[in-house]
Amino acid sequence: MKNLKAIVRRADTLPSRPGGSVRQALKRDIEFLRTDLVPHAEGEEIGLYPVADKLIRKYGRPTATMSRDHVYLKRKIATYCRLAGKIASAKRSLPAATRTAFWKAAIRLEFLLSVHLEAEEKDLLPYFDKYLSQKEVNAVIEKMHGH
Ligand SMILES: [Fe+2]
Repeated sequence: MKNLKAIVRRADTLPSRPGGSVRQALKRDIEFLRTDLVPHAEGEEIGLYPVADKLIRKYGRPTATMSRDHVYLKRKIATYCRLAGKIASAKRSLPAATRTAFWKAAIRLEFLLSVHLEAEEKDLLPYFDKYLSQKEVNAVIEKMHGH
C-alpha cells in the first residue's frame, strides 16, 4: 500500500519534463508492479485462495468481500456527490485542484463500481439462475426492494 500511495503521488506531481530521479522512481514502480505485485496475486490464486475457500465455506461468509465493496462504494459515492454538489453550485470558475479531485472521484467510483458489478454478474448471480426456482428468485428480488 505504501508503494501504491507513492505511485499515485508520483502521477499527481508528474512534471512535464520528468528529471532523472522521477525517471528512476518510475522504473522502480514498474519493477515493483511487475515483479512483486503480479507474482503475489498469482501466488494467492495458487496457495492462499484454495485454503481460504475451505475456511470461509466452513467458518466465514463468502460474500464478506462483496459487503466490504459496498462500504467503499458508499464512501466513493459520498466523495463524488460532495464534489459534484460543490461544482454544481459554484459561482466562480473552478480551480484546477477541484477539477482534478472531481475527475479522480469519478474515475475511482466508476472503477470500483464496474469491478463490483462484474463480480456480482459473473460470480454471484449465476448461482441464483442455476440453483433457485423462479419463485425463489422473485422472493429474493422482493426482499431486496422491500427493505
Ligand atoms: Fe452490490
